[in-house]
Amino acid sequence: MTVDEPLSTRLSALCAEGRAIFERFDSDVRDRDFHPFVAADYDVVLAALLVHRGPGRRFLEWGSASGVITIMADLLGYEACGIELDTSLVRTARALATRFDSSARFVAGSFLPTGYAWRPRDGDGRTSTIGLGPSGYLQLGLPLEHFDVVFGYPWGGEEPMMLDLMRCYGRADGLLLLHSVNDGVKAYRGGREVTSAR
Ligand SMILES: C[S@@+](CC[C@H](N)C(=O)[O-])C[C@H]1O[C@@H](n2cnc3c(N)ncnc32)[C@H](O)[C@@H]1O
Repeated sequence: MTVDEPLSTRLSALCAEGRAIFERFDSDVRDRDFHPFVAADYDVVLAALLVHRGPGRRFLEWGSASGVITIMADLLGYEACGIELDTSLVRTARALATRFDSSARFVAGSFLPTGYAWRPRDGDGRTSTIGLGPSGYLQLGLPLEHFDVVFGYPWGGEEPMMLDLMRCYGRADGLLLLHSVNDGVKAYRGGREVTSAR
């Protein structure tokens, strides 16, 4: 699926600004201390969002950081929301949305619903880089089940937890898009990888 010239220009500018924000974040914050924010490959994510977009589709980004991907989804016509634990990144995302005239919504909180606990078969339920905090869905006023397409960028080993979260609280027909450094974006429905266009 293609986008028209003005939208393509806007998306390119958004991605360029997102990369610049991440470079600054990397030197100002990550060079001093560990922080789980690493920017996804925006071109790869854009291609996936184009495949799965449709009128009125509802998009949620888990750990939306600087907001680039949620804003991208909004510009593509999704009803788009992002939940991020780091409040300073939520401020960055809202400012970026304003600059791009986007109505993407961002809330500070956790993408883990209240009461959710990751209980893997091997018993090690540590959540690695996924932090804990008050659930963002309350502030959003929408449950995870509301969303047709959910995007996450798990660190290595966190994929099973995201799949479990979607299975427990997501729509049965909801699509989970998981980004990884080596495999790009994989799409899952009902816990299984889907390779068809939509
Ligand atoms: C690997 S980064 C991905 C950033 C962005 N989604 C992207 O793909 O460019 C993960 C983000 O999730 C945030 N995060 C970690 N645990 C979270 C939680 N429980 N709820 C919301 N955000 C969380 C981190 O602060 C970080 O910004």
